[in-house]
Amino acid sequence: MSTIKEYVAARKAVIAEEIKARPRAPRLSILQVNDNPASNAYVNGKMRDAKELGVEATLLSFPTTISEEELLSEIRRLNDDESVDGIIVQLPLPRHIQEEAVKWTVDPKKDVDGFHPCTTFEPCTPKGIVEYLSSVGFPFVGKNAVVLGRSNIVGKPMAKMLLARSCNVTVLHSKTSEEDKAFYLAHADLIVVAIGKMHYLDSRFTYKKDAIIVDVGINRGEDGKLHGDALPGLPVALQTPVPGGVGLLTRLALMENVMEASKK
Ligand code: GUN
Repeated sequence: MSTIKEYVAARKAVIAEEIKARPRAPRLSILQVNDNPASNAYVNGKMRDAKELGVEATLLSFPTTISEEELLSEIRRLNDDESVDGIIVQLPLPRHIQEEAVKWTVDPKKDVDGFHPCTTFEPCTPKGIVEYLSSVGFPFVGKNAVVLGRSNIVGKPMAKMLLARSCNVTVLHSKTSEEDKAFYLAHADLIVVAIGKMHYLDSRFTYKKDAIIVDVGINRGEDGKLHGDALPGLPVALQTPVPGGVGLLTRLALMENVMEASKK
């Protein structure tokens, strides 16, 4: 079984070849309205991937004082620009800008984040996870999948995509009792954890020994390093690492969405 790094490298090589054979490079515009270190890290990663694969990515950085209307008109300008294939607006946004207004303004045909209600794209993190699970032969149908966390970016779309693949999906969240969490986790074939709590899943819970844990968490520890929502080394068949796990899958899925957008 290949590691996530090997899987991503192989997929990237295929995408790079496909782009080389195209008459023009796909074009991605990234809009950033914050100077937050986590966002900078995400954006730098996306820019690096784009360069590596031959996608022309442009970063448009705006001061946090930009008004909502100014940002929306910038998005409309990119919607109308036929040379732009994909648009992403990096989250989080400043408080005075409504996330919903931004999501609704991006042209669904260019919405490579998959955030618009009428989008034709799958959101990148769940898409990356499902494609990786398929590559390792996870059978999906009739399997018990537990999604821990109910965010709009990960938990909710993850649950929907696993349900579409006929998993028995249970979503657990901050209002679920510890006792119920223990019950569902003990019966899970697949656990996707995205709650932003360092090492939340540990040995106080029991797991099926052939379970898969997909760790979406990125938490900065007191040691200054990144740690997941699951303690490394849990007694399961496969646990994705942090760093070097889901982050790579998310970025790969974004590049796949950009390729798809450029075909539209
Ligand atoms: N902030 C954290 N994750 C994401 C993502 O997947 N897309 C965007 N646009 N912003 C984010």
